[in-house]
Amino acid sequence: MKYHLATYGCQMNEYDSAMIAQMLMRHGATPVLEPDKADVIIVNTCSVREKAEDTAIARIFQFKPLKQANPDLKIIIVGCMAKNKGEELLKRLKFVNYVVGPDQYRKIPELLFSPSRKRLCLLDFDSQENYVGESANLLTPFSTHITIQRGCNKRCSYCIVPYVRGPEKYRCAEDILREVSEAARAGVSEVMLLGQTVNAYRDGNENFASLLNRVSEIEGIKRIRFTSPHPRHYTRDLLEVLTQNSKICHHAHIPLQSGSNAILKKMRRQHDMETYYGIIDYLRSADPLYHISTDIICGFVGETETDFEQTLEAVQKVQFDTAFMFVYSPRRGTESFLETEILSENEKKERHTRLTEIQNAITLKRNQLMLGRKETLLVERASSRDAEEMMGKTDNFKKVIFKPEGIVKPGDYVRCKIDDIRGWTLRGTLVENEQE
Ligand code: SAH
Ligand code: SF4
Ligand code: F3S
Repeated sequence: MKYHLATYGCQMNEYDSAMIAQMLMRHGATPVLEPDKADVIIVNTCSVREKAEDTAIARIFQFKPLKQANPDLKIIIVGCMAKNKGEELLKRLKFVNYVVGPDQYRKIPELLFSPSRKRLCLLDFDSQENYVGESANLLTPFSTHITIQRGCNKRCSYCIVPYVRGPEKYRCAEDILREVSEAARAGVSEVMLLGQTVNAYRDGNENFASLLNRVSEIEGIKRIRFTSPHPRHYTRDLLEVLTQNSKICHHAHIPLQSGSNAILKKMRRQHDMETYYGIIDYLRSADPLYHISTDIICGFVGETETDFEQTLEAVQKVQFDTAFMFVYSPRRGTESFLETEILSENEKKERHTRLTEIQNAITLKRNQLMLGRKETLLVERASSRDAEEMMGKTDNFKKVIFKPEGIVKPGDYVRCKIDDIRGWTLRGTLVENEQE
């Protein structure tokens, strides 16, 4: 059986797709890049904003002619939109065979190898399902993601994730360490731990700080990243581990959402700006080049011009290395969906444009601060512009383009002096026989 897998949404969906891939390969299936060569097409979907759902639906429609040409083709929708829309998808998309929610992935191989033509929707939440014992297919031979927490217990008023992913569940520490160790034995040296509020992790006596330390003790692991931490769960212990354990990269994606305390409260974010600045101050005092990225929502329901200006001020004050900036998208089923929006789509977009301009200048400035530094890069791939050059990332998650000498391959660590910047892109020269 040949399968084609298309993935939308966040890293958690990427991990799940890699896990589904592993389950299918264990059953003898092989992946194909071309959907028209597949016996099975799986689309892993996202629901976080309306546009995410529209994109997935448009993609799924592209598979309709393939199904018409080959009635034996099985098409399956998984992920957050599967859970969100459920039966409606089966009704609307007659060419789709199965709709499977995030806690039912173990059933996928059975469904796909079954001769039955019955169309099915499997959506139940399962509070015990942490996919213990599973290992996802590695993202790359040298770097991979590992989910340690599923679902979310927060109820941010704009957010659909808790409804489609269910309540928070923590994977047991031993199973996480097993998967990281297996990956390390296979050659992985960088791991990204995943969860919607990843730093809320706990399992018996283990918390996120202690788990990070245990992961760092695994032979072969050189770099540890994680996403997304929630500002509410940065404990003193955690901050200390983050700045003291040299294997934990100086890189964090800490969603801000808004710079206005009034809006944060309306969003039910469970943190205020004082808490947020406290975390940033701690990390950036330890290392001024600590990479901090964020998520910001523009034009949330009830956001006044003053609230928005406070977001702009916060962005200036924090100096984010990068930011993912979104126009607020009301999601049916969430608390804020019930509130009437005052801002038009254009007004929301206009705020998004203003914010983007400011952030772009800051991103450039933060990259410029890297000039003159000697850094270790984990080499990822050939440069997309010039096949004779390669791209690697620093500990603080900056991309650097360099010209390799001799044999340099993805997964290698090299030392580089960052000596140029073109546009936003840093460039470096290999350093040899360095005396530290
Ligand atoms: N668990 C993470 C966020 C997951 S969703 C956290 O709490 O930080 C990723 C991002 O999508 C969010 O940080 C938010 O900025 C954005 N987002 C979520 N719901 C949205 C909505 N209804 N409209 C616009 N952006 C939204
Ligand atoms: Fe959504 Fe909030 Fe949970 Fe993040 S913490 S997934 S924004 S509800
Ligand atoms: Fe989207 Fe689901 Fe992730 S809604 S952002 S794919 S958890």
